[in-house]
Amino acid sequence: MRTFDKILVTGGAGFIGSHLVRNALVEFPNAEIINLDKLTYAGNLENLKDIESNPKYSFVKGDICDLEFVKQLFEDYHFDLVVHLAAESHVDRSIENPFAFLHTNILGTANLLHTVVKSDHDCLFYHVSTDEVYGSLGETGLFTESTSYDPRSPYSASKASSDHLVRAFYHTYGLPVLISNCSNNYGPYQFPEKLIPLVIHNFLNQKSVPVYGDGLNVRDWLYVEDHVKAIFAILKKGRIGETYNIGGNAERTNIDIVSRIGEIIDNIEGRTYNNYKEYVTFVKDRPGHDRRYAIDCTKISKELEWNPSVTMKKGLEQTIKWYLTNKNWLDNVTSGDYRSYYKKQYGDFK
Ligand code: NAD
Ligand code: DAU
Repeated sequence: MRTFDKILVTGGAGFIGSHLVRNALVEFPNAEIINLDKLTYAGNLENLKDIESNPKYSFVKGDICDLEFVKQLFEDYHFDLVVHLAAESHVDRSIENPFAFLHTNILGTANLLHTVVKSDHDCLFYHVSTDEVYGSLGETGLFTESTSYDPRSPYSASKASSDHLVRAFYHTYGLPVLISNCSNNYGPYQFPEKLIPLVIHNFLNQKSVPVYGDGLNVRDWLYVEDHVKAIFAILKKGRIGETYNIGGNAERTNIDIVSRIGEIIDNIEGRTYNNYKEYVTFVKDRPGHDRRYAIDCTKISKELEWNPSVTMKKGLEQTIKWYLTNKNWLDNVTSGDYRSYYKKQYGDFK
């Protein structure tokens, strides 16, 4: 079982990264955890408010695309593990502006890999990747670790490139690496541009809920805390150089998800039966919209005894409850106030 002393988490102020940082403090209680994040629109230090004064945790603001900065960071701290999550992560934004995705997801990953290889310390590199690299499924079949890559959006193409770079550094330089390709996450602290938090936010505020195309695209939903547990299992016991798929065994059409959230919110808010339907609006489809994703988790289940533990029903209820009891978080995000949180806590940047 591996253990670590100095862990760099990139993108720790984002959705999954913040869950990972919080849990890493428990999972590796003796380790120092450094969260490197550029704080793009998706980075929000309020996600880590509860642990910010933990002496084992520090935050560093910086850009993984800045090679000199990354090199200096590795000289200052001698990391023995990098968990790399920093990325541009939203498919619709990648259609609007692919270049931000190419920079951060490809060049940023290359900078980290290059720096780790050049450093004179042993360091394991873990890449958090996506099932979208495999393309789109028809009505049947599942993505396995040997499914050919077939990315179809600028986002997924950039993540596929970064996966290829990670494997290239493993084969060429002998860098110890691990990769996981995960399905759609949901849970607390997810930025309300992604389907589930967007739908929760809009129903709560009685705003129109946009459903792309016919609403029958399928995603395999995974509760974020289950994802983080899978990452820890791989970090501790995964075979170096290997890839592990992570999924929720919870395929749902988008319209199913929207309807379920609508029913729960109507019930909680004491609205009339099926009130939510008034707000469901079918809109123009996403260009190149992948039809179906679904993960075969056999490898991680058999080798590392990890299986998703939170059912979709429970996970959705917990998530909706979290957004309801954390309306401030949502308000700060939608108003843009969360952008000033760092300044309020730490003062101006140098
Ligand atoms: P997110 O958008 O919520 O967070 C990304 C974080 O990266 C933000 O805090 C942002 O400030 C930071 N960041 C962006 N560019 C940076 C840069 N140049 N330098 C330093 N920091 C930078 O993303 P997420 O949903 O938490 O996803 C995290 C990772 O997991 C991504 O690599 C994503 O591709 C992958 N992933 C996400 C999902 C999902 O469903 N959300 C599923 C599979 C894989
Ligand atoms: O599969 C893993 C991927 O899941 C991650 O790699 C990505 O970072 C993450 O953003 C997510 O990508 P998707 O494109 O699947 O997620 P999104 O929440 O944007 O959309 C989910 C589905 O809902 C998709 O079929 C598009 C649809 N959709 C989305 C939005 C935002 C709508 O119908 N309406 C919407 O307003």
